[in-house]
Amino acid sequence: MSLTKTIADNIYYVGVNDRQKELFENYLPLPQGVSYNSYLIVDEKVALIDTVDISFAGQFLNKLEEILNRRDVDYLIVDHMEPDHAGSIGLLKNRYPNLQIVGNKKTFDFLRGYFAIDTQLVEVTEGSHLALGKHELAFYMAPMVHWPEVMVTYEITNRMLFSADAFGTFGALNGSFLDADLDLSTFWDEMRRYYACIVGKYGQPTQNALKKLGALPIQRICSTHGPVWSNQIDKVVKLYEQWSRYEAEKGVVVVYGSMYGNTQLMAERVACGIVDGGVKNVVVHNVSKTDASFILSDIFKYQGLVIGSPTYMGELYPLIDSLLTKIRERGIKNRIYGCFGSHSWATGAVKKLTAFGETMNWEVAGVPVDNKYGFSAESNAQCYEMGKMMGESVSKSGRN
Ligand SMILES: Cc1cc2nc3c(=O)[nH]c(=O)nc-3n(C[C@H](O)[C@H](O)[C@H](O)COP(=O)(O)O)c2cc1C
Ligand SMILES: [Fe+2]
Ligand SMILES: [Fe+2]
Repeated sequence: MSLTKTIADNIYYVGVNDRQKELFENYLPLPQGVSYNSYLIVDEKVALIDTVDISFAGQFLNKLEEILNRRDVDYLIVDHMEPDHAGSIGLLKNRYPNLQIVGNKKTFDFLRGYFAIDTQLVEVTEGSHLALGKHELAFYMAPMVHWPEVMVTYEITNRMLFSADAFGTFGALNGSFLDADLDLSTFWDEMRRYYACIVGKYGQPTQNALKKLGALPIQRICSTHGPVWSNQIDKVVKLYEQWSRYEAEKGVVVVYGSMYGNTQLMAERVACGIVDGGVKNVVVHNVSKTDASFILSDIFKYQGLVIGSPTYMGELYPLIDSLLTKIRERGIKNRIYGCFGSHSWATGAVKKLTAFGETMNWEVAGVPVDNKYGFSAESNAQCYEMGKMMGESVSKSGRN
C-alpha cells in the first residue's frame, strides 16, 4: 500500500517519515524514527488536518500538489500547535494564500505568537461543525492532552477521529500507514514510551477526553504520529484508559545507579528476591546505560518499582535524582515501592529515596537496605528479603 493512498473516500494520508532525527524534542531517542501525520480531505472544499515538522515541508508540499494538482487548500485545521505539526503553517500559507485556518481561541493565541497570523481565521468551539460537501467535521476540545490548545476533529461521514498526539507512537511507518498492514510488535512499546514521556503527566485531562469521545462511533483513529488505527481501536483505547489511570501490570522495575558496582550487586539480589516472591516480569535498568524514557515507559507498565542509589556528595546519585524528578513530574500513582542504597561515610541516598516514596504516597514493600563500604553478607540477605516481599506484594495485587 502506498503512503499517499486514500484512507477513506477522498481522505488521504499526507504525512512524512522522519528517519533522521536522533532525539525527539531534543531529548527522547528515536531508534526507529517517527512519523508526522497529516491528512487531506478533498471535497467541494479541501481541508488539511495539521501539517508536519518544517524540515519536511518540501516533501509535504509536493505530496499535497500530487493530489491537488493546483487546486487550492481551503481550510487548514490545526488540532495542535506544537512545531512537529504546526511547523509548516507559515510555508503552507505562502503556498496557499487563500487558506483559512480553523482552530479555537487558544490556537489563535499560539498562531499569532509563532507566525504573526491573525487573519482568515475560522474559530470553532466545543461541538462546532464545518461542512466540506459530503464530508462534515465536528470539533471537540482536548485541553492539556498535552498542550492547552489541543482539540480533536471528528469526520462524521466516515466516523474518523483525528486525535492530535493522543494514541500516537514513536516509530516511522514502514510501507503503510494502516495498522492492519504493519508489524505492530514494536509499536506497542513505543506507544507506551510516547505516552509515558509526553502525555504521562496529564492523566486526568486524558481521562476527560476519553470520556467525551467515548460517545462517538469511531472506525478510524488518525493520530499525528504512528499508525492509523482501524482494527486495533479497542486495544489502543483500553491502553489509554489504563495508562491515564496509572494502572499497571504485574511486574517490577528495578532501577539503580552505581559507580563501582556495590549498588549494582544490591540490585541483582533484589531482583532474585522478587522472582522468588512470585513475579517473573522483572526488568533491571542501569540508569547510566538505559535512557530515562525507556525506564519511565517500564515504570508506566509495571506495578512494582525498586530504586537504588549510592550516596554522592551527601545526595542521590545525579542520574537517579534526575529520574526521580521525571517520575514526580508525571504524578505516577498506585505503585508498590522499595529502595536501597550504599555509602561509605555518611549516608544520604536511602533517606532521600525513602522520603521520595512517602511524597508519592506509594505502598512500601519490605525494609529499605543501606549498605556501608563493600557489599556485605548482611546487605545481601536484606536485599533478597526486601525483593521477596516486593514480589509477594505485587503477586497479590497486580492486575494480571
Ligand atoms: C564522587 C563520590 C562522592 C561520594 N560521596 C559520598 C558521600 O557523600 N557520603 C558517603 O557516605 N559516601 C560517598 N561516596 C561513597 C559511595 O557512596 C560508596 O562508595 C558507594 O558504595 C558507591 O556505590 P557503588 O559501588 O554502587 O558505586 C562517594 C563516592 C564518590 C565516588
Ligand atoms: Fe505534541
Ligand atoms: Fe506531536
